[in-house]
Amino acid sequence: MRGLFVTATDTGVGKTVLSATLLAAMLAAGEAVRAHKPAVTGLEDPGEIAARGEWPPDHELLARVARLEPEEVSPLRYGPAVAPHLAARLAGECVDPARLLAAARAGEDGVEAARVVEGVGGLLTPLTDTYSVCDLAVELALPVVIAARPGLGTINHTLLTLAAARAAGLRVAAVVLTPWPGRPQRLELSNHATISALGGVEVHGLATVPSPDPAALARAGEALPWRRWLAKPPSPHRALRAQLA
Ligand SMILES: Nc1ncnc2c1ncn2[C@@H]1O[C@H](COP(=O)(O)OP(=O)(O)O)[C@@H](O)[C@H]1O
Ligand SMILES: [Mg+2]
Repeated sequence: MRGLFVTATDTGVGKTVLSATLLAAMLAAGEAVRAHKPAVTGLEDPGEIAARGEWPPDHELLARVARLEPEEVSPLRYGPAVAPHLAARLAGECVDPARLLAAARAGEDGVEAARVVEGVGGLLTPLTDTYSVCDLAVELALPVVIAARPGLGTINHTLLTLAAARAAGLRVAAVVLTPWPGRPQRLELSNHATISALGGVEVHGLATVPSPDPAALARAGEALPWRRWLAKPPSPHRALRAQLA
């Protein structure tokens, strides 16, 4: 499967904005795209609705950008603003991990579309009582992009997420600090450099996207090296030959 798995250091960090910018940029570059979100919660929570402002709920935004139906993007949709395992329990549902995996892989047999899967919450968020976002990312075997805040506290959260991802055997393509200020100050610049150095990871900033308009999203996504992230890593043999040449 070709694509990217977008996770974050926390909920409300910028996974949806980042996923939408990636999808919009891919589509603008002529890629066939698919978007997936294993579960959305908080659809009927007044605080969540108010906080979104003009931004639609995750599955609606991703569907609009990827030109799919919202129900295709996210098969599990819940009202309360709680983690998915609790949301399912409150709805009297029992979600089977095999069903989550099958939904994330839907359409795999067709055109090799570039798939963007937005996780829920952070990497260790439970999707069911026994299956986490991290478990799904491992089964999909997609490179991971971590959305993180640019400000105070982000070094610890980002390095913890990197450690958890690598311990699970995930390949981390990059960390994206979002929203990256137009005039970054000493703190943000230092966080960028420190995460890169201590995490041994490529770090980018994603500028503030003014509105959920596909053209604005595509412009922001185009600044990220998603083509390289999507490319298969060189095989160990090829990498070794290149070093010896
Ligand atoms: N690059 C950005 N441009 C505009 N808004 C951003 C950006 N990054 C984060 N935000 C804001 O942060 C909040 C959370 O973003 P969202 O993508 O919904 O987070 P998550 O999907 O991780 O819960 C939203 O209000 C969103 O508008
Ligand atoms: Mg989201």
